[in-house]
Amino acid sequence: MGADESVRSLGAVEAPWYHPTGNEVALFEQCHRRGLAVMLKGPTGCGKTRFVEHMAWKLGRPLVTIPCHDDLAASDLIGRFLIQHNGTVWQDGPLTRAVREGAICYLDEVVEARQDTVVVLHALTDHRRLLPIDKTGETLRAAPGFQLVVSYNPGYQRLLKDLKPSTRQRFVAMDLDFPPAEQEARIVQHESGIDEASARALVALAERIRQLRDRGLAEVPSTRLLIAAGVLMACGIGQREACHAAIVAPLSDEPSMVGALRDLVDATFV
Ligand SMILES: Nc1ncnc2c1ncn2[C@@H]1O[C@H](COP(=O)(O)OP(=O)(O)O)[C@@H](O)[C@H]1O
Ligand SMILES: [Mg+2]
Repeated sequence: MGADESVRSLGAVEAPWYHPTGNEVALFEQCHRRGLAVMLKGPTGCGKTRFVEHMAWKLGRPLVTIPCHDDLAASDLIGRFLIQHNGTVWQDGPLTRAVREGAICYLDEVVEARQDTVVVLHALTDHRRLLPIDKTGETLRAAPGFQLVVSYNPGYQRLLKDLKPSTRQRFVAMDLDFPPAEQEARIVQHESGIDEASARALVALAERIRQLRDRGLAEVPSTRLLIAAGVLMACGIGQREACHAAIVAPLSDEPSMVGALRDLVDATFV
């Protein structure tokens, strides 16, 4: 029995800042209005979580976030009977709570979850939006405002794990890849507080490194890593050192790859 690792956020005073890179805000709003489940596709650190936080705020809905992993059981989502001294009491899981209160329920990295866990989502994506709770014999109808959102990283572990077509076809998919250079630089600048020239240089570096994707580099630098490098620079750490610490070292342990990445850093920040 895993602990409830869900995170609930409601009523942030300020909007989580999100810089749109396409028509995703309007598309998401329409999906929300029509009760359609959404799948956010994109690499780690490209802005999926920030986008959902922003949309939940904009739509005025509570957000329940559930990080998925391979021993996440259906009962971790739905709930379970707890044994107490005077009998058993039912405790809702995070999905059930979201269904009852009309929250946006965000399952992060849904491919990580076991198939038998993912299946409990299916009836919620039908037009009747139902959640059967086998253990209590109850069937809940999702409250207005409930929306199911999942994230999915298409590149990551694609050969080992994938979503079944019967699951995928239940979602409207939105591609959130790394934004175009100009916009990514604006995001890095906003989030880290560095100057525009440094933000642009970080993005130029990322574009060079991303070209190594199929040449032995398993994971490419995300917007998140660029922001981390920017944050270090804004604290007064030297530009190259910041890039080595926040970009090169997290990406690879392999000496020849580390050497190649360091060369790219040195060529970008002369
Ligand atoms: N379009 C965007 N607008 C605002 N911030 C962004 C955007 N894309 C990425 N970020 C920044 O990058 C960080 C990582 O994004 P996150 O949403 O956590 O990625 P993911 O959930 O896809 O792994 C965020 O905390 C935010 O600072
Ligand atoms: Mg995330």
